[in-house]
Amino acid sequence: MGPQTSSTNHQVSDAEAGVLRPAAVIVLAAGAGTRMKSRTPKILHTLGGRSMVGHAMAAARGVVPEAMAVVVRHERDLVAGHIASLDSQAIIVDQDDVPGTGRAVQVALEALDRAAGAPLEGTIVVTYGDVPLLTADTLALLVESHSAQENSVTVLTAVLEDATGYGRILRADDGTVTGIVEHKDATDVQRALNEINSGIYAFDAATLRGGLTSVTAGNAQGEMYLTDVLGIASAQGGRVAAVVSNDPWQVEGANDRVQLAALGAELNRRTLTRWMRAGVSIVDPSTTWVDTSVQLAEDVTLLPGTQLHGACEIARDAVVGPDTTLTDVVVGEGATVLRTHGSGARISARATVGPFTYLRPGTVLGEDGKIGAFYETKNVTIGRGSKLSHLGYAGDTEIGEDTNIGCGNITANYDGVNKHRTTIGSNVRTGSNTVFVAPVTIGDGAYTGAGAIVRSDVPPGALAVSVAPQRTAEGWVQAKRPGSSAATAAASAQEQASDTFATGESTSSTNSTDESDSL
Ligand code: UD1
Ligand code: CA
Repeated sequence: MGPQTSSTNHQVSDAEAGVLRPAAVIVLAAGAGTRMKSRTPKILHTLGGRSMVGHAMAAARGVVPEAMAVVVRHERDLVAGHIASLDSQAIIVDQDDVPGTGRAVQVALEALDRAAGAPLEGTIVVTYGDVPLLTADTLALLVESHSAQENSVTVLTAVLEDATGYGRILRADDGTVTGIVEHKDATDVQRALNEINSGIYAFDAATLRGGLTSVTAGNAQGEMYLTDVLGIASAQGGRVAAVVSNDPWQVEGANDRVQLAALGAELNRRTLTRWMRAGVSIVDPSTTWVDTSVQLAEDVTLLPGTQLHGACEIARDAVVGPDTTLTDVVVGEGATVLRTHGSGARISARATVGPFTYLRPGTVLGEDGKIGAFYETKNVTIGRGSKLSHLGYAGDTEIGEDTNIGCGNITANYDGVNKHRTTIGSNVRTGSNTVFVAPVTIGDGAYTGAGAIVRSDVPPGALAVSVAPQRTAEGWVQAKRPGSSAATAAASAQEQASDTFATGESTSSTNSTDESDSL
């Protein structure tokens, strides 16, 4: 039986792990990954919102090992910094000039023994930094089967139609695993075998330590092969067994960007399936992308073209999309977020956002509030029931409750050197195209007139207007723009007006007819 390789994030409970808890997990991540053709080290490439090595480390932590070591070499400082940022407890081990997976594990084991102050005993799990779909569940099953069968080594394998390039599992006539042969060292008969070595194993610590002392680089690649330990253990009478995975995605590595995209799409498919099973409606899974770190509640609806990244949390009955990209945005119960690009924002219950809205970090929208079409917000706290309905910018601003910000309002928060705050109270009504020249404070219940440029504070209940008297120059167009289409239109309007006056006809007669028609 293969392991049940479900995509749920299985957390092994401490009680469960107590018996099986591995002494250590070693994550191999020293390789160069040249086929990525990238200045970014392979294992730092991301899928599902997390680096490949991040996925590997999360799966490793899922089996609650006593210690975790990650072996690095290529782009050492960059990779080590990333690993430390994800997991401060991880032991970072530098591989030396000796190449091969066997050497990588050997230096890791030496470092782990040193850190523990004594040679480790029990189970050592080895896994790769570039196999991102492997789950903690699968590692737990490997460890469980290794312990239950009291094996010296248990290897995770898969049966592939095309096994080219992989190490092949060698079995005796009775099915016992006797070793692994690398593709480059294999005979034609061995190359016809299609059970492959995933490179993921559970080892008895003493078997691993002892076996590695006998591993040499006498092979086609001149490397110390970790795989040789299986043959050595078997020859010494140890029990070597395989757990056959029925889910090849979980053992597949990403060596180039084509594989990375395929694995990323599969990971996303699994993430969406998990959420749909948990009660989330996803109208179009093929255009919906959700990072593994995102949290969704029951009865959330994701409309087509939605992307949720990072620490997004969407509460019950909220509707997100279509065509919405949110990063680190918290959306409250029953809120609607339509055609929006947002990051670092909080949208409270029943609030509405969009369409065509740009929420920048520090945006906090209160319950029942609204940020409408063509709005940009940054560092703004908007109280319950307040509405910024259309066309504007609000930055470095605090707005009270039940305030209505008129169309086209702008907070002029930047004087070219410093940013300043705008404070707007509750139950305020601002006229269209009000400009708040910060720092400025608008009291509760105040009004502003259309086009007001508010440069000084407005007390509660006051009306602020910017009065620049309108000057109308009659006949200006015909005088200054003779022959233009505007001049022609003006002339014909004047002619019509005088005709109407002469015949006594009312221009509203057609309108009256329309009105009676519609009755
Ligand atoms: C290895 C296995 C092979 C298996 C395959 C599965 C060996 C000898 N062969 O082959 O049986 O089918 O993985 O993908 O183990 N690494 C280091 N240090 C090194 C060399 C490798 O840390 O000196 C790391 C790499 O970063 C990578 C992993 O080990 O994450 C596997 O290395 P790779 O060179 O890809 O091994 P394969 O030749 O593919
Ligand atoms: Ca490989």
